[in-house]
Amino acid sequence: MLKVLVLVSGAGSNLRAFLEAAQAENYPARVVAVGADRPASGLEHANERGIPTFVVPFTDFENRESWGEALLEVIRSWQPDLVLLSGFMRLLPESVVDALSPRLVNTHPAYLPEFPGAHGVRDALAAGVRESGASLIVVDSGVDTGPIIAQERCPVHPNDTEETLHDRIKVIERELIVRCVRQIADNTINLRELKPA
Ligand code: GRF
Repeated sequence: MLKVLVLVSGAGSNLRAFLEAAQAENYPARVVAVGADRPASGLEHANERGIPTFVVPFTDFENRESWGEALLEVIRSWQPDLVLLSGFMRLLPESVVDALSPRLVNTHPAYLPEFPGAHGVRDALAAGVRESGASLIVVDSGVDTGPIIAQERCPVHPNDTEETLHDRIKVIERELIVRCVRQIADNTINLRELKPA
């Protein structure tokens, strides 16, 4: 059974979908804990299911490095096989990435390398593209530059707002997370053997 620790910053709708999938008896992964960098409302989805949660508030620390050390200590205490960033909106210091990668993956609401960064949905709309998508990647020291595990396209409609497009993309993100974590668990995806992006 693959032990997954999930980190969130926001509402955690992707987390909720993953928790539901991971509850199925034949799903080969379990969420051992859910953490956040702030008192994120998404933690509630874990609380409701009796899954332990923790917060390591970024603002309690002097710098990114000391916050990262504290976060890594809590993550390690759960001995996860995989750490999933699901709407985790804080850049991890390189020391944390080095300690966890490649068993550190992130879901991104665009078809990378298109539209990296914190505003992938807004940037796709502003660019006027007809298609965007979602990607699941291994986290490396860059911003959304790590090896791509899987990605899928979706249409952008002429009357889309950031919200309607993001909702369409999140449906894909959820499918990618559930499918890829299953494949990581059963070794059909080997994170060490992925090609660099
Ligand atoms: C997702 O689209 C994720 O890729 C992005 O933020 C969104 C998280 O949404 N970084 P939620 O918190 O799961 O609802």
